[in-house]
Formats: sequence, C-alpha cells, structure tokens
Amino acid sequence: MSLKHVQRTYEWYGNADPLYAVLSDKGKKGHRWDVGEFFEAGRQEIGRALTYLDRLGVDLKRGAALDFGCGVGRLTQALCEHFDEAVGVDISSSMIRHARSYNRFGDRCSYHLNTTADLALFDDASFDFIYTNIVLQHIPAAASAKYIAEFFRVLRPGGIAMFQIPSGRRHKPGSLGEKLSQVARGPLRRLWKRVRGKPTVEMHQIHRSRVEEIIAESGGRLIDVRQFGSVRITRVSYMYCAVRE
Ligand SMILES: C[S@@+](CC[C@H](N)C(=O)[O-])C[C@H]1O[C@@H](n2cnc3c(N)ncnc32)[C@H](O)[C@@H]1O
Repeated sequence: MSLKHVQRTYEWYGNADPLYAVLSDKGKKGHRWDVGEFFEAGRQEIGRALTYLDRLGVDLKRGAALDFGCGVGRLTQALCEHFDEAVGVDISSSMIRHARSYNRFGDRCSYHLNTTADLALFDDASFDFIYTNIVLQHIPAAASAKYIAEFFRVLRPGGIAMFQIPSGRRHKPGSLGEKLSQVARGPLRRLWKRVRGKPTVEMHQIHRSRVEEIIAESGGRLIDVRQFGSVRITRVSYMYCAVRE
C-alpha cells in the first residue's frame, strides 16, 4: 500500500465523518461525537503526555510544537495551551479544512497540508516538541521510518519527540490465530469495505528494535518507551520518547 492510498483514504473519511475517522470510539459513528467532548479528549491526552515528561525529568522548552498527522486538530489545539506556537500537519486536505475551522488560537496555531514522504516543508531545528499518536500505524513502514528520521531533523537540539507506533502482532508467528487474523483483517476486510464503497484504513508496524535503531541513526537518543495505544488487543504498540542530541 502506498502513501497515495493513505491520502485518498483520509480525504474520503475527512469528508464523510471526520471526528469518528480520528477517534473511532464506540457509539460515535455517524457524526455522533460531541465536539466539546472530542477536543477535551485531546486536552487530556496532551496533559498526560506533559505530566509523563515531567516525571521523567525532561527539560521541555515551550516554544514551538508540531502535531504530525493532526487530523481535525484535536491534539494541536491542546498543544496551543502549553506552547507559544503549535503547528499541525496532515496528508488530507479535508482534515486540514476542518482543523482550520476548529482553531481557537488564531495565528499561534497553523495547519499545513503535506502529501510528500518527508517533512521538507519545515526547516531544520524548527520545533521543541513533536507529538504524534494514531498516525504512523496507518502509514507504510518505509514511509514511517523516513518520517521518524525527519522528526529529528526538524527538532531543535534538546527537543523532544513522542511518537506512537505498533511493534508487531500479539499472535505467535505461523499460529492459527495469526492466519485467521490475517484473513479477517486483510483481504476479507478490504472486500467488505469495497462492497460498502469505503476505503480501507491500513494498519502497519515497525519492530521496536528497528525503531530504536532509526532514532539512533537520526541523531536522537531514546529516553523512554512504554506500551501505549488503542490497538493493544491485537498488536503491541509503543510510545517512544526521544531527545534530539
Ligand atoms: C486516526 S487520525 C489521528 C489524528 C490525530 N493524530 C488525533 O489523534 O487526533 C490519523 C490522521 O493521520 C493523517 N495522516 C495519515 N498519514 C499521514 C502522513 N503521511 N502525513 C501526515 N498525516 C497523515 C490522516 O490524514 C489522519 O488525519
């Protein structure tokens, strides 16, 4: 699957049901999210991330923050409450359109469309903090590896990246559970979505050991890793916290 597919998928969902496409909570499908409740979830998530960094003793500068894969700005808006400036970047123009319409922070918040496999739209050393959740899991692994490397280019020295990505499936390789899950989540799911005229949201992963290598190769130093994320029933997913050396 290509980045083009990811773009088309989120263009479609950004038009069809954007808040549910971002946070697919039970009972919220079909425009059932209360907007206030939705953005409150983002505020709480960023609050927990900052408390976690505090507990780790991380010295986080509060200048500019980047929300990679910002969707409708659920986390970007929350970052504005803690940083001088927050920037959201997304591959989907429909998501960016909604994000701009929900912006409560004027010029301190900006949203950018980026459909390329890098972050060339940002200069080196532009950000103090990068946060991304439920994004890299939908991007083909080779492209995610490139984005992770880019995080450390656009971070200032001493800047912090927190990013979530699954490491692998919970099933033992070759087990019946793995085979069944591959069919259910792969061709069968794609066919079912196609029948209903919906694009498939792909799931991808990079093994933890490889992610740690990418961080080191890109000028980062791992501070902490913890299990994190809504896909933990079927996959092991981690939140990585690393500093730009
Ligand atoms: C499940 S939503 C999560 C949005 C946001 N991170 C949040 O938690 O509220 C995934 C978002 O990632 C975006 N996305 C997917 N691939 C991307 C890429 N290569 N670059 C930027 N954004 C991307 C999608 O368009 C979508 O808005």
